[in-house]
Amino acid sequence: MKGWISRPRTTVAKRLFVKTYGCQMNVYDSARMADVLAPLGYGLADGPEDADMVVLNTCHIREKAAEKVFSELGRLRKLQAAKAQAGGRMILAVAGCVAQAEGEEILRRAPFVDIVLGPQTYHRLPEMVARASRSGGAVLDTEFPAEPKFDFLPEPRAEGSSAFLSVQEGCDKFCTFCVVPYTRGAEYSRSAAAVLAEAAGLAGQGVREITLLGQNVNAWRDDVGRDRDGAGWTLGRLLRALAGVEGVERIRYTTSHPRDMDDDLIAAHADLPQLMPFLHLPVQSGSDRILTAMNRGHDRATYLALVERLKAARPDLALSSDFIVGFPGETDADFADTMALVRQVGFVQTYSFKYSPRPGTPAAAMDGQVPEPVKDRRLAELQALLHDQTVAFNHACVGREMRVLLDRPGRHTGQLVGRSPYMQPVHVKLGGTEAAARLIGRVVPLRIVSVHPNSLEAIPA
Ligand code: SAH
Ligand code: SF4
Ligand code: F3S
Repeated sequence: MKGWISRPRTTVAKRLFVKTYGCQMNVYDSARMADVLAPLGYGLADGPEDADMVVLNTCHIREKAAEKVFSELGRLRKLQAAKAQAGGRMILAVAGCVAQAEGEEILRRAPFVDIVLGPQTYHRLPEMVARASRSGGAVLDTEFPAEPKFDFLPEPRAEGSSAFLSVQEGCDKFCTFCVVPYTRGAEYSRSAAAVLAEAAGLAGQGVREITLLGQNVNAWRDDVGRDRDGAGWTLGRLLRALAGVEGVERIRYTTSHPRDMDDDLIAAHADLPQLMPFLHLPVQSGSDRILTAMNRGHDRATYLALVERLKAARPDLALSSDFIVGFPGETDADFADTMALVRQVGFVQTYSFKYSPRPGTPAAAMDGQVPEPVKDRRLAELQALLHDQTVAFNHACVGREMRVLLDRPGRHTGQLVGRSPYMQPVHVKLGGTEAAARLIGRVVPLRIVSVHPNSLEAIPA
């Protein structure tokens, strides 16, 4: 996933360009960095060419993701030099998970970078910009500060009818392949009060769909309630409260860990019509041997039982997942277990990756590293099956009525594009341009009539 944040150019003193790599948490963080810098006079630029400050918000999850940063820095260096020659200055900042993991290395390999900051320190960006501007030397801040950044951020500015809201940060699970516990730090939950206030603020700005984010979003908890009624808050209770926030019509949450799926959260899927019937529940592998080596903390049977319970609670629930092929020691039989699990569950949208050894993680040092051609073959086989399942699901949607959140104009006159409950892009033609424009930001019932390669087509229901 990759996102560009840009807004129409306004008459502001300085321009900021943020390029985002990695997960939705980085998308959220990029928007918040822009919010933090706005009071300093930074408005958003359309591209790096005319920017006074460029932030690369990076991802360290796989080798390829991390490498992209250095090639992008090479390109930006030329722009920065051209700007300096013209008597100007471009401040270059590297943020996010590569910055956290390889901060010193970035400054060594790319000494023209002005600021390196980790995912937990961007509330201090104004101070870092001031320091970089004053001294001309590089600023490095990859601490895990005691104060949570969320307590120091301005209210988010909403864009459009759908918004991300980070409620949980970090990870204590330590899957043996993964860098996140090292780049994002320990699990931390924002308070229910802070989350609900942010949601109300977003709804007040026209947001209709809120996606709660966390690396382990269902590990979210707030123990304040414990003083009052002994229960404390877990994610199910937060979702119920969120469903009561005026204007919030749709709720999603991602990414969940199978280990943290408690009874109340499953029940919330049965009870809350606002909670979309679509859940991203990464399984990684269908082999118990590999799941153990990955330290996932659950086995195949537990995952399958969980899927059954979720589908019993919400029969129209569809699932999405993440898979890794070629984890150290993975045999053909282990891989066949993954294929069998996929056939048994049936997923509608998925992300699948070749195992990428990450420096400092236990799996990188394990015996039995799988040769690249074997990983390639397994990935192709898995992706073919997953693709067939996605296509079959899309076709099964034809004839169904779905409530679609219309969020932007399409390419043709009177056409609008929105998202189905299952995140499928849906196109619909709704009379003239003006009539259509009035429906942007609304959830409307549509009937799906056909399937295109990357979207569904609908008519008013
Ligand atoms: N917290 C989430 C996952 C976050 S990372 C969870 O536990 O499910 C997103 C996905 O990247 C993971 O689900 C995994 O499939 C993939 N991933 C993480 N580390 C990887 C690695 N070293 N090689 C390949 N894929 C990896
Ligand atoms: Fe990584 Fe595992 Fe934590 Fe997910 S649960 S972020 S895969 S260590
Ligand atoms: Fe990547 Fe960091 Fe997200 S490593 S996946 S940007 S938490």
